[in-house]
Amino acid sequence: MPSLLEISGLTRRFGGLTAVNAVDLRVGEGELVSVIGPNGAGKTTLFNLVTGLDHPDAGKVHFEDEDITGWPAPRLAERGLARTFQHGRVFANLTVLDNVLVGAHTRLRAVKPRIGGVPGVAALAELALALVQPPSVTREERALREEALGIIALFGERLAPRIDNPAYSLSYANRRRVEIARALALKPRLLLLDEPTAGMNESETAEMLEIIRTLKARGQTILLIEHKLDLVMQLSDRVVVLDDGSKIAEGQPEEVRNDPRVIEAYLGHRHVGGLVQEAVAA
Ligand SMILES: Nc1ncnc2c1ncn2[C@@H]1O[C@H](COP(=O)(O)OP(=O)(O)OP(=O)(O)O)[C@@H](O)[C@H]1O
Ligand SMILES: [Mg+2]
Repeated sequence: MPSLLEISGLTRRFGGLTAVNAVDLRVGEGELVSVIGPNGAGKTTLFNLVTGLDHPDAGKVHFEDEDITGWPAPRLAERGLARTFQHGRVFANLTVLDNVLVGAHTRLRAVKPRIGGVPGVAALAELALALVQPPSVTREERALREEALGIIALFGERLAPRIDNPAYSLSYANRRRVEIARALALKPRLLLLDEPTAGMNESETAEMLEIIRTLKARGQTILLIEHKLDLVMQLSDRVVVLDDGSKIAEGQPEEVRNDPRVIEAYLGHRHVGGLVQEAVAA
């Protein structure tokens, strides 16, 4: 399977703490790889390094054989990496539909040739287009809207009746759904989800599992951080386990589940959001 993402020796230190310690990780085209590990293991820091929100002290990130180490976040988004955040990030004052359209517009900017190559000229040209609204622009807007509605439909009745509501008025779970919808509107080559079910109840979690399963069935490549082991076991092609910044295990879900080092890592930590019990049960 050709590699889409290839991380090697990635390291990030905060003072005396090594949050991510020489981590190697690869994600093949169409694969779903999960990153698990106790609180503070370095999972979110790893995502931040890959998506340009933070810079590594050492190591490399390659995407489709291109060295993307240290690229800024917007350039990475245009390159095909989209992520969601552990605590959810949406544009609170925009409607559900507009939040998703932001994702679609980001993608369009990436595919459109820049006019004249001079930023000022390009901005003026865009302004002129916005004022005149030639048929091609309105057609494009309509197409984007249809596409956004299609993505929103993935979330069924949760979002569809609320497309004109501002994001701030939504429940926490719905804001998280909007965030995923916006990431999908980028049509990412790689979707990175940081604990998409955090704060969700059992039925909301089951719904999210189905959505991720649907995305995977459509061929979406996904890197997933998740604490709910049951979900990880059902969805993952491969599981990577981090502890104290280092990769301590990697393999098929069942292998990892029964790995004594993994059970030990979970048992050694007190606050692991329900994982201890599952690790013990395994
Ligand atoms: N900006 C920062 N400055 C200093 N320390 C940080 C910073 N970001 C993260 N850390 C530390 O790095 C370690 C890894 O944090 P990280 O958020 O990556 O863990 P995590 O695996 O995502 O944990 P959780 O499961 O709780 O989300 C933690 O000890 C954390 O306190
Ligand atoms: Mg985290």
